[in-house]
Amino acid sequence: MLNQAVYDELLQKYKAHYGKDPAIVAYAPGRIEVLGNHTDYNEGYVFSAAINYGTFFAIAPNDKGVNRIVAGDLMHEVAYPLTDAKPVEKDTWANYVIGTTMGLNALQPQTAGFDAMFLGNIPLGMGLSSSAALEMCTAKAICALYNIDADQVTLAKVGQAAEHHYAGCPCGLLDQISSLCGEDGKLVKTDFRSLKIETIDVGNDVCLLMCNPHARHALVDGQYASRRQACESAVGYFAEKLATPVTALRDVTLANWVAYQSGLDPIVAKRIAHPIGESERVLQGADYLAKGDLIAFGQLLFDSHESSRTLFENSCEELDNVVAITKTIPGVLGARISGGGFGGSAVVLVKTDAADAAAVAIAEAYKAKTGATCDVTRIQPSQGACIVK
Ligand code: GLA
Repeated sequence: MLNQAVYDELLQKYKAHYGKDPAIVAYAPGRIEVLGNHTDYNEGYVFSAAINYGTFFAIAPNDKGVNRIVAGDLMHEVAYPLTDAKPVEKDTWANYVIGTTMGLNALQPQTAGFDAMFLGNIPLGMGLSSSAALEMCTAKAICALYNIDADQVTLAKVGQAAEHHYAGCPCGLLDQISSLCGEDGKLVKTDFRSLKIETIDVGNDVCLLMCNPHARHALVDGQYASRRQACESAVGYFAEKLATPVTALRDVTLANWVAYQSGLDPIVAKRIAHPIGESERVLQGADYLAKGDLIAFGQLLFDSHESSRTLFENSCEELDNVVAITKTIPGVLGARISGGGFGGSAVVLVKTDAADAAAVAIAEAYKAKTGATCDVTRIQPSQGACIVK
């Protein structure tokens, strides 16, 4: 099993804390965004993958009339009511679990409480969506415990609602869908309008590195929301200009943008060119992958980063340095911001036979250029969320 040592530690800690074994253990991985930045809430396309790091959630019924959740790394317990639980201000990690529980409660009311504990190994603050992983392993475990029959999209929406109403981040569905739908060795291509999901084998010739230069990363501080708002503010304008229906930026092409952008506020015009271009790059990338052209696919990652840096302005100096450095490293095919931005990490597409040397070379070159540390982690596209016990 993936991350067996974490699973073993969780079972042992669960028993020590609750004096019994869990009835069910669920697992959900983090995710990496490979191409298609800020396109999910614009109903566009994204390439992502579930990663080989994740979170386990152990659960059993109790007769206490409350739900109890323990963060296994802190061994700290929070109790919350079965219904109408509000977000907590202290121990804010619990909000992802509470929000997910309340979302499932609305689907099928739960009349008894549970004792739960979670433990994972997703590096935090790196833009690998540890929060979505926590929501999705919570959701899987509760559904198994109470026989709630919910499909993947419903579970993803429950997690998204927890982010919106309990964590204060107006995110799209990318993180939750990727955590649920990943497969070993495959990229997940999602159409965020139809929510049609395909998995694409990229073979063994390339792999991914995640480079963390320890830049600040906080989607809840308003930057993400302001970018989303800029995107949504342009929809009405294009709906008036175009003959075809426009209900999201998905309906606007780059050619439309060129023709009509001058009538928009210049900042809004610049911002929206990013997700519009990103969606087109994902479709172009799918063609390149179908032809096996990984070099052209990699170039799209560099183009994506440039668009983030200059148009959406959701990059930062640290990530720009990482991406610039990767362009000089043998075997690297592409690199870009992964996830919301304003910090976090860069994803690098690299030839597998050059990956180990590239990882060392990126870290060394980053140190030489900036004097600071950049952690480089190899990422394996991996299976999505599941029940393990
Ligand atoms: C974060 C959000 C996602 C998505 C990405 C940017 O990860 O949670 O919904 O918008 O940023 O592509």
